[in-house]
This record gives sequence, structure tokens and C-alpha cells, in this order.
Amino acid sequence: MEKKINAIAILTSGGDAPGMNSAVYAAAKTACAKGLKVYGVRYSYWGLTNDIDNCLIEFNVNNIGDILNQGGSYLRSMRFKEFYKEEHLQKAIANCRDKGIDGLVVIGGDGSFRGARDLTLRGLPCIGIPGTIDNDIPSSDYTLGYDTCLNTIKTLCASLCDTISSNDRCMVVEIMGNQCSDLTVNGGIATGATAIVVPEIMESINNDAAGYVVEKIRKARELREAQGTSSGDIKKFYLVLVAEKMPGVNVADIASAVEKKLGIESRSIVLGHLQRGGTPSSFDVIMGCRMGNKAVKLLMDGISNRVVVRKGSDIVDYDILEALDMKTPFDYDLLEIANELGV
Ligand code: F6P
Repeated sequence: MEKKINAIAILTSGGDAPGMNSAVYAAAKTACAKGLKVYGVRYSYWGLTNDIDNCLIEFNVNNIGDILNQGGSYLRSMRFKEFYKEEHLQKAIANCRDKGIDGLVVIGGDGSFRGARDLTLRGLPCIGIPGTIDNDIPSSDYTLGYDTCLNTIKTLCASLCDTISSNDRCMVVEIMGNQCSDLTVNGGIATGATAIVVPEIMESINNDAAGYVVEKIRKARELREAQGTSSGDIKKFYLVLVAEKMPGVNVADIASAVEKKLGIESRSIVLGHLQRGGTPSSFDVIMGCRMGNKAVKLLMDGISNRVVVRKGSDIVDYDILEALDMKTPFDYDLLEIANELGV
């Protein structure tokens, strides 16, 4: 392979996600193996722009060792909202030129890819890798961190079910996703939730999330009582998953409606940032490695302004601008499965 660049930098941007470190590790190791200089940039675009001297770590095959399977972001991840401003972009470009960096790998979400496109347009070749628990990057079937996060939701909800099954209670759980319903829908299937509430159903339920959940649980209870069991031990607990950031919807109100209307003692919980931590799943580690490896090979081939994404079981790359314009239709079939199983 012809070497078209000499030194690359790698950064993580936006909310941290399990698997980001795996991608950093793979990009760094690939570049080391090909004889490039490799830097990690601490504190994302902010570090690249405002404090390059303190934020650059030079990686080699010895000191990159331990982060492959680490959760969070070793390099630190943050949102630098001002990064679209010309003065910041020019400063970042000048800093990279000064340090001899001629390629950048950016691991983050769509906002981070916009920064990568802006830098490429100004002369620094960049490649993006989708890293966020939300799975909300339309160009990719999958984002680093999503699989681990789903597993975490499953584990945390199993703990909740231990306690609610002991008290015949209902638990209403708020799930992250930043306006993308994937974690809630697939989390609902993985946990056997009785009801899930996501933005895509709101119109069809007249924006009455609490009323919808009450009816769903009422029907489930009727079915359970009608079918009975030989021991007479009917399942009496209910798990409900609700997507975060839905205007006018909150888990405490839903729990209180279930208690009032159905007489089922109810509690609510926001899982919050517990969902974002943890050791990456093998799937996230392997995807991070495949994406990190490919990103560096593209840069070495003189290719830039691309995002490395998963399509089906392949790792492919798209132009960043095209990728940013893509839309993913909501999967109503999956929602139907979640609903059919929620009894
Ligand atoms: O994008 C990842 C994410 O965890 C979202 O699911 C959530 O809405 C948001 O970040 C939380 O952001 P912060 O950590 O800044 O509170």
C-alpha cells in the first residue's frame, strides 16, 4: 500500500460510548503497523483547537495496549458546539499543520461528522466513525456502543424485574436514545416489556401516553387472568419502557396513572447514564476494530471526507455529505413484534 500520509490523529466526540476505545486502539495499531506517527487528541475538537500542546498523546504499539476493552472514552469525549466557527476551524487546521498531522479519524455522531467535513474542506483529510449508544446515525445500520447499551438495559431491567416481581408492582423506565427509538423498541423486546412508548406511536394514541400504558396493562392482566396457570400463580408484575425527551411525557406520571386506574402499585426510574458506561460487548469491540482499521487504510490510500459505517454485515464507506443527508425509516415491524410480545 502506498503511504500518502505521515501522521494521523484520532479523537472521540459527543457523548462517550462503549467501543469508542476499541476504534481508537485499532486505528492507532493499524497506523503504527504501517509506519505512521499516531496521536490521540484528548478533549475532542476542543483539545485540537485550544490546547493542542497538552492534549496530544503520541501512541505506539506499547502504550496503546490496555484500552481495547475499556468502556467510556480514554481520550475524553465532549461536545464543542462552537466548532463550526471559522476561527476555530482555522486554528485546528493550523495546529495540525504545526504538528505534522495530515489525517484525522473522528469517532462520534452526525454533529462530529460535520466538523470532520469542515476540516476536510479546509485541507485536513478526515474520516468519521459512528460512535454513540443511540444508534441514531442514518448512514449506518449500527453505531459503536449500541449493542453494549442494549445489553446494559437488559441487565438493569432484569434487576428491576427481580424486585417488581416480588411485590407485584409495575415499573416505568425511561430509556436514553436522544429522539431515536431504537434502544427503547429493541430494549422492550429484549426485556419482555408489557408496553413501550416511543414518539412514533404518539399520534395514534392521541398523545395520551399514560392512557395507552394503562390500557395495555389492563389487557395484559385480563389475558393473564383468563389463561391462568396450573399452580394458580399468575404473573402480576409489569415493565414499561419509555423513550426519553418526549414532550409532555414523563415516567412518574405514567406510573401514577397505572396505580390510580388499575390499583397496581407502581414506581418509575430514569436509567440515565448507567446505560452509557460499562465494558464494551465483544460485538462493539470487533466493530470498533473493523471500523478503526478501515478508517486508517482509507486515509493511507489518499481517501477522505468519508464515514466508515456498517451496512448489513459489511463495513463500507460513504461521502460525509451524502451520509448526513440519509434518513432511516422507523421500523414499524419491530414495533409490532414488541407489542405482540407485551402481554
Ligand atoms: O447521545 C448519547 C446520550 O447519552 C443520549 O442518549 C442522551 O440524550 C445524551 O447523550 C445525554 O447527554 P449528556 O451526557 O450531555 O447529559
